[in-house]
Amino acid sequence: MRVLTGLQPSGKLHLGNYFSAIKKILDYQSKEELFLFIANLHALTTFRSKEELKNFTLECAIDLLALGVDPKKTVFWVQSDVPEVTELTWYLSQSITVSQLQLAHSFKDKVAKGFVPGAGLFTYPVLMASDILLFSAEKVPVGKDQKQHLEFARDIAERFNTQFGSVLTIPEPDIDENTATVPGVDGAKMSKSYKNTIDFFGTEKEIKKKVMSIVSDSKAVEEPKDPETSVIFQIHSLFLSPSEKESQIEKYKRGGAGYGDLKKDLLDSILTHFVSFRSKREELAQNLDYVHQVLKEGKEKAQTVAQAKIIDVRKTLGIYPF
Ligand code: ADP
Ligand code: TRP
Repeated sequence: MRVLTGLQPSGKLHLGNYFSAIKKILDYQSKEELFLFIANLHALTTFRSKEELKNFTLECAIDLLALGVDPKKTVFWVQSDVPEVTELTWYLSQSITVSQLQLAHSFKDKVAKGFVPGAGLFTYPVLMASDILLFSAEKVPVGKDQKQHLEFARDIAERFNTQFGSVLTIPEPDIDENTATVPGVDGAKMSKSYKNTIDFFGTEKEIKKKVMSIVSDSKAVEEPKDPETSVIFQIHSLFLSPSEKESQIEKYKRGGAGYGDLKKDLLDSILTHFVSFRSKREELAQNLDYVHQVLKEGKEKAQTVAQAKIIDVRKTLGIYPF
């Protein structure tokens, strides 16, 4: 089965991304045919600077390779390297109405926050449908926030097949409705936009500073503490086996451990969990030629699939040359 997903290079990866999205993608890699790309064209809709887009694109590639994306198993490329995707976007834009696109939550949310949208933000879901349909993806793992975009992709494919001829595969969404929301240091959902993230590839000093800033109540060292309501524990439990979890719960309930100690335990778990990924990351950052080579090979594999599909689509539409 062909599984495809994209990640926007819009900032540093954090524990929320890791425990919900990235671990799941890596799980697919060993079982299915995985297509994974860096959605740099989508990131243009919230463009800040050329330097930032370049840095985040490269860092995203390095991070994912360090975390275990294996280019021997997975087709891994940068979206803009396969320009067929923008051609297909134009064709697909005939198969969705303006009033449908006006219903997009992500678009409406940004506008409600005062963002002045370009036409690119409005047609964002069509580019996303194109990413999926160009590669005939059967399954698309995404976060809950992308559910409506997946529905657009299915609608577009169905309408296109009816209007012009059956050439597009209808994709199935793969959304974990129950994925726990990882809290940030302030207790709200961990998110780049709330500036409350713990970025696991930051320096040890940065990670320590973030962990030490996690909110807690003012219970004294000797008092028993409630793990259920503790943000420190909610994050920590993501790293723990069932038996480790039990003994940590015990430590909270017993009293005698201050929040400073409990944060120190969490910090140790984060550093231990990512130690080998961090050294792999440092190695890759010193070997950018290799990273570019991986992306080039990924581009070639992705483009072979994309070109075959775009030829079918052009034929179906009667695009010149015939
Ligand atoms: P951010 O909110 O920091 O901008 P993204 O929107 O880039 O994160 O999210 C990328 C992926 O990580 C999505 O699949 C999203 O659902 C998931 N994700 C992001 N933050 C969290 C979180 N706090 N808890 C669980 N999943 C998250
Ligand atoms: N819009 C997705 C996000 O912000 C990223 C994305 C772009 C994507 N194209 C895709 C995800 C195609 C899955 C399939 O998270």
